[in-house]
Amino acid sequence: MPKSNAEKTGAKAPVPGTDLAIALMAAGKGTRLKSKRTKVLHEIAGKPVLAHVIATARALTIPNHITVIIGHEAEAVRKAVESTGVQFVLQAEQRGTGHAILCAQKTLQAHERVLVLSGDAPLIRAETLQAFLEFHLRHKASMSILTARLTDPTGYGRIIRKSATKPEVTAIVEQKALNRKQVAIKEINSGIYILETAELFARLPKLRTDNAHHELYLTDIAALLTKDRKKVVAFETAHVEEVLGINTRSELAAMDAHLRARKSAELMAAGVTILRPETSMIDSDVIVGEDTIIEPFAQLLGSTQVGGDCRISSYCVIRDSKIGDGVTIRPGCILTEARVAANATIGPYSHLRPESDIGEGAHVGNFVETKKARIGKGSKANHLSYLGDAEIGERVNVGAGTITCNYDGVNKHATVIGNGAFIGSDSILVAPVKIGAGAYVAAASCITTDVPDDALGIGRATQVNKEGWAKKKREALAQANK
Ligand code: UD1
Ligand code: CA
Repeated sequence: MPKSNAEKTGAKAPVPGTDLAIALMAAGKGTRLKSKRTKVLHEIAGKPVLAHVIATARALTIPNHITVIIGHEAEAVRKAVESTGVQFVLQAEQRGTGHAILCAQKTLQAHERVLVLSGDAPLIRAETLQAFLEFHLRHKASMSILTARLTDPTGYGRIIRKSATKPEVTAIVEQKALNRKQVAIKEINSGIYILETAELFARLPKLRTDNAHHELYLTDIAALLTKDRKKVVAFETAHVEEVLGINTRSELAAMDAHLRARKSAELMAAGVTILRPETSMIDSDVIVGEDTIIEPFAQLLGSTQVGGDCRISSYCVIRDSKIGDGVTIRPGCILTEARVAANATIGPYSHLRPESDIGEGAHVGNFVETKKARIGKGSKANHLSYLGDAEIGERVNVGAGTITCNYDGVNKHATVIGNGAFIGSDSILVAPVKIGAGAYVAAASCITTDVPDDALGIGRATQVNKEGWAKKKREALAQANK
């Protein structure tokens, strides 16, 4: 299997020698999505918004050093991302961003410094955070704030610098507290910070709720630090889109498109041809090998892995499947949790359901449905078949319209077909049943008992030809109509 495409494009290793904790704030609900679900569980590019931020955090430190602060739908959020190995802290009542960090004090203060991320800002890249961390260390700051300049900064906290040309910051002022002069400031607080934990936790108890939302604002730490002559600096990123959060369904769609475009660009950089990338739907965790060609409107979803030198044609929907090198998937196929070995050909219009395992160089063709079916090397099932709970050997020819009757209404039964067998068209194989190696099944048979190796199984009425029958019938009809 190919290496992950991220490995190939070479995301940087974390800065060595820094003892970094990461806090991920994800306790808020996000009312503007108008949803029963909490914001961070909405999916973009194939996984929850929060899972993207965790993946980025994991590029910087080990999972055990990442603390996710959960509140709304805490158990659902935990379940959705617990496989990543991160830690969780419950903020039962959301009393503000400062309060969120207080709830995580125990796990965070074990480290020298903490990077604070928002669970609802999934476009931030590890490379940007890396540069941010280097900036923080270079300035020996107590607090660094990731900022950006927006044409419309409305709603965001604003950055008050000591002077326009210097990185030093005196305060962050929230939208509702801005005075007439400050409203004009375009530089916004992204909600992403690096803080020295000793300085942070010495000041968190000093936060007050005398503000518009009656909350504990983490942003107020900036002014508390500068009052004590501690260094607070702003790191402005030119990648403005990376700091944007999700608040509405439109923004959710825009971020999904952005992440998919980024994914396609990554794949193309790693040697994959994508025709009309603006039409393809490729989830973040998908892996594709070199010289594979992806035609317009293909969907590669979930944990799908595609080898090199493949062709994935238009209108295929491939989820959680593993596809070897040199495979051709013709238009309109649906694959779910299927495996396809090297040089096989699938489609057009094949449906490979879970536990389909297609052997090397095998062909599965038009309107063939497989489920829990192993099809051996070089075997062919090219037209109009249902193959379920089947174990099919190598070099088998499954004729058009062959059906495995795997279900008796209560239980599922297996059909086993030996190497080199030939199944005539329109055959019904009533499981449990075994067709021996090298055996033939006559076309249109209904096979209910095993066929030995190298035998011919015929299970159909013998044909009778009645000479002149049709002619006589026509004459009789013509006579009656006179
Ligand atoms: C915050 C900043 C603002 C900044 C903006 C960037 C504060 C006071 N303001 O405002 O300066 O421009 O982010 O997006 O911090 N959360 C919790 N627990 C809470 C409250 C919030 O976990 O008690 C989480 C939310 O789920 C969210 C993040 O913290 O992921 C930010 O909270 P949110 O309420 O969206 O803050 P903003 O009003 O956007
Ligand atoms: Ca927000």
